[in-house]
Amino acid sequence: MQKVHSESDIDSIIKVHETKDISLAKKMFPVETARLARHLHSQLPGYYMTRLAALPNLANMLGVGGIYVKNEGERMELNSFKVMGGSFALFKFFQDKLGLSDDELSVDYLTSDECRKKTGIITFASATDGNHGRGIAWASKMLGHKCMIYVHSETSQARIDAIKAYGATVKVIPGNYDHAVHQCVVDAEKNGWEVISDTSWDGYTEVPTRIMQGYTTMLLEAQKQFSSQGIEYPTHVFVQAGVGALAASVIGFYAALCNGVNTPKFIVVEPNKAGCIFESAKEDDGKPHNVDGSLSTIMAGLACGEPSPIAWDILKENADVFMQVPDYVAARGMRILATPLKGDPMIISGESGAVTLGALYQLLTLPGNEEVKKYLDINQHSNILFINTEGNTDPKSFRQIIWDGADQVPAKFATER
Ligand SMILES: Cc1ncc(COP(=O)(O)O)c(C=O)c1O
Repeated sequence: MQKVHSESDIDSIIKVHETKDISLAKKMFPVETARLARHLHSQLPGYYMTRLAALPNLANMLGVGGIYVKNEGERMELNSFKVMGGSFALFKFFQDKLGLSDDELSVDYLTSDECRKKTGIITFASATDGNHGRGIAWASKMLGHKCMIYVHSETSQARIDAIKAYGATVKVIPGNYDHAVHQCVVDAEKNGWEVISDTSWDGYTEVPTRIMQGYTTMLLEAQKQFSSQGIEYPTHVFVQAGVGALAASVIGFYAALCNGVNTPKFIVVEPNKAGCIFESAKEDDGKPHNVDGSLSTIMAGLACGEPSPIAWDILKENADVFMQVPDYVAARGMRILATPLKGDPMIISGESGAVTLGALYQLLTLPGNEEVKKYLDINQHSNILFINTEGNTDPKSFRQIIWDGADQVPAKFATER
């Protein structure tokens, strides 16, 4: 049974589960695969464990036990979690191509001339709304191969330049992200390129599954960081969604790890201009549903109108609440993180990275969300996990929001004077 609820500018769908079927999560996200991903990622140049930042003063202000932000804005030189997925898909591509065992797979070997002599130079291709393409470009260059990246016409120059900086060719496609995905597939087929897409479709699931598995390195890191603070699992996880691959990997990982015991409550957050996961939950027929149009939102990484079907399969079974919010919620999240309460660390977050904290703030400080709050049971014992999925990946937009106050909070939802 599901309920739709809309107040205080947050649209929420509460999914009341009779029981959760975690079998798919266990199949897709076994902990051994997460360990392999982390083992390989730890060999990457510049790898270190990103911070799990605690914001105790904000937690106190909002009346919750703990607010923890896994800061992927600090992920190597790439400012985003995305590289963890793309690089793992490339590792597995070469593992298959060369018939290597897990033990034989190493970054040292994959970057060697000996390896390239065996495989030849491969061209990897993908569509992106910025961060995934940057990660694939970086990983292709690091492994000594080529890269073609497809972006849509609304993609900012800063995001395009960041991809080109790693030697990739960038093609701009008229339309939105979903058009770029389709064109990339057509061109790759013609040219014999390997598609490394983070979204899935009928007959194309292996690579996107590996990308999702690659993201779980950050969750293994988070678990290590939680356990050093005496926390077994977070009680709630807020996670943002574009095509839903990140959300499915976070939610699938925890669902499999917890195995039905002390599983956190999962909240999926999207922009209300591109809420394809929300729409799928609302339709409630078990199938993914698209939204179309310009998908115009400041949350560039979340501007996707077509859910990844394999991600949706995990989300429909395991997510507890689906939310969609306006752009100013993300902008407020960015400002909260960048100008913290005294004693809390400063976190530089982009629009897509900050929306989940913005959503929590909106949920807890405005009236009208009682039903969702009651269902989520967020209280002074809750330890809530957020993933800051990107840092300042679009500096002009970042300045407009943080310095110039763009995407202002409407007066009726602003802090009272
Ligand atoms: C910064 C950022 N956060 C979140 C996401 C959402 O990931 P997904 O499309 O897998 O839902 C993206 C996707 O590009 C992103 O760039």
